[in-house]
Amino acid sequence: MRRVVCPGSFDPVTNGHIDIIGRTARQYDEVVAAVLTNVHKKGLFTVEEKVAMLRECTADLDNVRVAQFNGLLVDFCRENGISAIIRSLRSVSDFDYELQIAQMNYRLSGVETLFMTANPQYSFLSSSLVREIAQYGGDVSSLVTPNVEQRLRDKYA
Ligand code: PNS
Repeated sequence: MRRVVCPGSFDPVTNGHIDIIGRTARQYDEVVAAVLTNVHKKGLFTVEEKVAMLRECTADLDNVRVAQFNGLLVDFCRENGISAIIRSLRSVSDFDYELQIAQMNYRLSGVETLFMTANPQYSFLSSSLVREIAQYGGDVSSLVTPNVEQRLRDKYA
């Protein structure tokens, strides 16, 4: 059983995240989409809301399950028998940041990080931009799924 994790803060999950999770699900037996805390980011949605949105967005993917964890990603991997972390790269600046984290996670636990290049269709997309656009009433319908769009509308109503 090849089980991997797609971790993130998913605040909220975007079409770019769903693309990566779906492509990962075609490569591995089981994918855990895991909501963790990024200490450098201030959250909009609660963990419960993020998990609910992810479940809605991945409902049609049989080998994807959604989880949440409060702690180190490598501890989540150890507790769940996960041998690899999948991270998306949209740009060289993503790589600069991700390389250090990947090497630290490997040093801490031996868990590998595998990078998947973002679909060019979504290489400009980030949750923070989606939040900003939604906050000012902009159109995010091509960036997130309808359920997420509705939750953003409710949040900023
Ligand atoms: O979507 P993000 O914000 O890029 O996801 C980053 C995330 C949540 C995966 C990362 O911050 C994380 O792994 N948080 C859990 C704590 C941890 O393990 N930090 C890394 C220490 S080397």
